[in-house]
Amino acid sequence: MKKTTLLHEGKAKKVFLTEDSDLVIQEFKDDATAFNNKKKGTIADKGVVNNAISCKLFSLLEENGIRTHLVEKLSDRDMLCKRLDIIKVEVVVRNVAAGSLVKRYGFSEGTVLDQPIVEFYLKNDDLDDPLMNESHAVALGVATLEELEVLRSRAVAVNTVLKEFFAGRKLMLVDFKLEFGRYDHGILLGDEISPDTCRLWDLETKEKLDKDRFRFDLGGVEDAYSEVQRRVLSLD
Ligand code: TMP
Repeated sequence: MKKTTLLHEGKAKKVFLTEDSDLVIQEFKDDATAFNNKKKGTIADKGVVNNAISCKLFSLLEENGIRTHLVEKLSDRDMLCKRLDIIKVEVVVRNVAAGSLVKRYGFSEGTVLDQPIVEFYLKNDDLDDPLMNESHAVALGVATLEELEVLRSRAVAVNTVLKEFFAGRKLMLVDFKLEFGRYDHGILLGDEISPDTCRLWDLETKEKLDKDRFRFDLGGVEDAYSEVQRRVLSLD
């Protein structure tokens, strides 16, 4: 399958149309942004690493009955995907307090939550992706209540599979963000799952092995991404 026209360029990926109107190609870039574009940089080979990790994790989810937009990995940076009508809701699942949960509610970082917290954010860069509840989402017309219920339960199911998988690779799945889209009367998981969109800590040392190293200038960004790739792709 070949790229035709550029459909959309985001902060970390380009999306191209293909000769098949049902399929698009996601090209993973090395560009990195944080705090809604206020911090910009590049992470060497991030695109290659995130494509490899995302393809592996989407395949794992498919094996566990969770439908995703992945069709196949085409090359180092290119993923062939079903073309979704993206739902403008970012779904965050948290197992351990970190990031904005600490800032907004005063949890201490590292507190293990009894139950995962699921949050909805409006996908809108101009508004800085504000936190919202179901009423806001319905009033804004971004999703129906029924769709939001699907997003919530699907996100919890993804968490169950990924948490166990990462623990087997000596990684703690602290939190992550998912995006979904409508496809053929159903809803599929889209976008990517990578150290850009997850917080992953070494299970024993609690060392941060994700985009927080870039966000907060912790150093060793490339090494952290390739360590996650090594563990995710390691054979059981
Ligand atoms: P947060 O603690 O900053 O709200 O982030 C929660 C999780 O969501 C974390 O794993 C990083 C991820 N995330 C994104 O993938 N994109 C974003 O724009 C933001 C704000 C967070």
